Amino acid sequence: MIEFQQVSKYFHGKPAVENLNLNIAKGEFTVLIGTSGSGKSTTLKMINRLIEHDRGKILFAGDEIHSFKPQELRRRMGYAIQSIGLFPHWTVEQNIATVPQLLKWSRAKTRDRVTELLELLHLDARQFRGRYPHQLSGGQQQRVGVARALAADPEVLLMDEPFGALDPVTRAALQTEIVRIHQLSGRTVVLVTHDIDEALALAQRIVLLDGGQVVQQGTPRQLLTQPANDFVRDFFGRSDIGIKLLALGAAGSYARKGEQVDGQPISATLTLREALSEFVFRQTERLPVVDEQGDAIGVLHFQDLIKPTGEDG
Ligand SMILES: Nc1ncnc2c1ncn2[C@@H]1O[C@H](COP(=O)(O)OP(=O)(O)OP(=O)(O)O)[C@@H](O)[C@H]1O
Ligand SMILES: [Mg+2]
Repeated sequence: MIEFQQVSKYFHGKPAVENLNLNIAKGEFTVLIGTSGSGKSTTLKMINRLIEHDRGKILFAGDEIHSFKPQELRRRMGYAIQSIGLFPHWTVEQNIATVPQLLKWSRAKTRDRVTELLELLHLDARQFRGRYPHQLSGGQQQRVGVARALAADPEVLLMDEPFGALDPVTRAALQTEIVRIHQLSGRTVVLVTHDIDEALALAQRIVLLDGGQVVQQGTPRQLLTQPANDFVRDFFGRSDIGIKLLALGAAGSYARKGEQVDGQPISATLTLREALSEFVFRQTERLPVVDEQGDAIGVLHFQDLIKPTGEDG
C-alpha cells in the first residue's frame, strides 16, 4: 500500500531520514516509534507530501506519490498531526467537515457524519459542534483532529502522537476506539508515538527508528523477544520486558476452557498484565473469565501466565 525505497530527507544538509526502506501492507496497523529526533514525524509527513522527500521513491498503491495531486492524497489519506492543528476561525463542525466539503457531500450527510464522529470520540455533539478551537481544551482539540482525519472514511490514516495531550483514561478509551475502527474498516493506519506501551498495545507491526534509519521492525512480540541489538533491548526496557509481554496476551485465550471457580469474574479482553494485577491484589491463583456477554469461558491459572501459548489479544 505504501512503500519507501531508499528514501532520504535532508534539512540544511543534515539527514533527518536516510536510505529508509519500509513496506506498509494494506490494512495493516503500523506504529513508528523511536527517540526524539529519530525521524518519525518526517517519515509520516512524507507519506502525504506535507514534507517532500529528497531522494528515493515513495509509492502509494503502486505509484510514486509525486504522480498524485496533493489534493488527491489529502482526500485519500486522513491525517491527525498535532503541530498542524485545527483551523482557528472554523467551528468544530467545519473543521471535521473539511474533506466531506471537498468531496461535495450534501449538508445532511455531512451533518450526520459530524454528529457520529463527535459521539465516537466522546464529545457531546450538541455542545461542541458550534465551538471554535480556542474554546476547547488541548485533549478536546486532539479528538476533533482525529475526527477530522476519519471524516470521509479515508483509505489511509496517518496519526502523529494523536493522544499525546490526553489523560490516561481518555487515552485508553481512544486507543480502544482506534483499534476497533481499524478492525471494522480494515484501513491502513500509520501512527507515530514515543509511548512504548501504546505502541505495543496498538501495533500489528512496530518500526523502531533511530537516527533516521530503521533499527528493527516486526511484531510487538518479535521486538520484545528477539531484539536485534542492545539498542532495541534498552529501548523496550530490559527490566520489565516480561510485564510488557504479558500486556500482549488476552485472558480469554489463556483461560482453561470449561473450568469453573468462584469469585468475581474478569473479562476475556483483559490483558495478562492486568490479570496479573488481579492475582496479586486478590491473593488468588485462579480467576474465572467471562466473555463480553458475561458468559463463563473458563478459568485463568496464575501458573499459565508464563506459558508461551495462547494468542495475542
Ligand atoms: N523543518 C525542519 N527544519 C530543520 N530540521 C528539521 C525540520 N524538521 C525536522 N528536522 C530535524 O530532523 C530530525 C528528525 O525530526 P523529526 O521531527 O522527524 O523527529 P521525531 O522522531 O518526530 O521526534 P519527536 O519524537 O521529538 O517528535 C531532527 O533532528 C529534527 O531536528
Ligand atoms: Mg515528531
